[in-house]
Amino acid sequence: MESAAILNGMRWTDTEGREIHAHGGGFLYDNEYIYWFGENRTGRRRVSCCRSKNLKEWEFRRDVLTLDSSVKPVYYRTNLELEPVAADGTVSSQGAVIERPKVLYNEKTGKYVMWMHWENGRDYHDARCAVATCDTVDGDYVYHGSFNPIGYMSRDCTLFCDDDGTAYFLSAARDNADLHMYRLSEDYMSIEEQVKTLWPGQYREAPAVMKRNGMYYLLTSACTGWLPNQGAYAYSESLTGRWSPLLPLGDGTTFDTQPTFVLPIYGKDETIYLYIGDRWDPSDYHQSSYVFLPLVFSGKTEMSLSWADAIDYDPALGAVRTQTRENLGIRLKNCAADRFLAVRVDEKNGVSGVHVQDLSYTSQDQRWDTEDVRDGLFRLRHTATGLYLAAAGGLEEHGQVSLATFNDSRDSAYLWRKVELEQGLCRLRNHLTETCLTLTADDGESLHLSADGGEWNPRKGRDPQAFLISKIFGN
Ligand code: GAL
Repeated sequence: MESAAILNGMRWTDTEGREIHAHGGGFLYDNEYIYWFGENRTGRRRVSCCRSKNLKEWEFRRDVLTLDSSVKPVYYRTNLELEPVAADGTVSSQGAVIERPKVLYNEKTGKYVMWMHWENGRDYHDARCAVATCDTVDGDYVYHGSFNPIGYMSRDCTLFCDDDGTAYFLSAARDNADLHMYRLSEDYMSIEEQVKTLWPGQYREAPAVMKRNGMYYLLTSACTGWLPNQGAYAYSESLTGRWSPLLPLGDGTTFDTQPTFVLPIYGKDETIYLYIGDRWDPSDYHQSSYVFLPLVFSGKTEMSLSWADAIDYDPALGAVRTQTRENLGIRLKNCAADRFLAVRVDEKNGVSGVHVQDLSYTSQDQRWDTEDVRDGLFRLRHTATGLYLAAAGGLEEHGQVSLATFNDSRDSAYLWRKVELEQGLCRLRNHLTETCLTLTADDGESLHLSADGGEWNPRKGRDPQAFLISKIFGN
């Protein structure tokens, strides 16, 4: 892996050895460099900027927008607060939340214009966009305030500039239910008109737009907070015309990422489009990392995304090579809890059972291996402890599930079978007891075995036996 440049899902450092905090990033070419702008929530929130020629060595430039940036109102009504004061007079020490900053260069005004998502630092109810500008790509941006575009809520967002220089701002409106597309004014400073509502009522987030051979593509995620979900894309010959239905992109968790940008790499022979995703860590935002993967196109409209542990970008050729390691195991998400099957380790007594816990990419507790045995039956081995998931005791105790060292004579208690459900989900049925792994309703975090729920009635809420099994990619 030495020669490979970019290790996906790992923590990346800049040329000074400091960790790169530039989440929800936006990228811009300027004078031979690729500039990366992103959220930095370490301490007082800000937008950080670094640059690179090879996508591996990132030189930190500066925090281009901070809570102390100079402010200048523009001709439309904006709120200039960067350290919003709550009704009771308190001010959050970290200031406003700034998310998903994106920057475009405006040829007419010679200004770099940043659009972003703004919240007050206490809750997510204001749902505004905000604008800042600068005369240089990585100088001190002047903050022009936040507002609700044409009065709408505006959360996850992106910018896209078409070949004719017309720029568009896209953002999630109506409490994320609809995705709006707005055409910007010539100076990119304000909204001119709403030109499209995409997938109304479908709760799409994390938009990223690209254009290839005259076709527009829009990448987006579903709306599940910091938890990854199945990404999707759509295409259209006209930005404001009819878009295709949403088509799946990547695996059921988009390889544990959420889109933030598509960066074109202009090679000698072809242009490669790099998917840029955030791997948010819901247990600790500061452990979040990044994933860069080349998008693959077939035919005029089909796009696909495969995992690669590492990508190597050669700027001289404009070529991107990928490398992938062997199987790194799986995670199992219980879909009723939206939490992950993990061992419970008691400091005094050691391993004492299984439960579900919040997704954490750094935790070893949530990693499992499968060992195929026969006829679709497999064992589930907890990677770090080497213990197996098994039905406890004999049939009479079939409600209990345990973690144990493998015991030949109770072989079938260690065997599991997947019972396929809709949308890539499954139940895990034990071969000895014929009962399924189930989230215990009382505490919502321990697990037991109970009769297969059969066709689940969604009126009862989410199926406590439904699991999403996803491979571990990177880190
Ligand atoms: C995600 C969104 C992120 C951030 C997060 C906060 O769904 O894409 O940008 O807003 O929610 O929970």
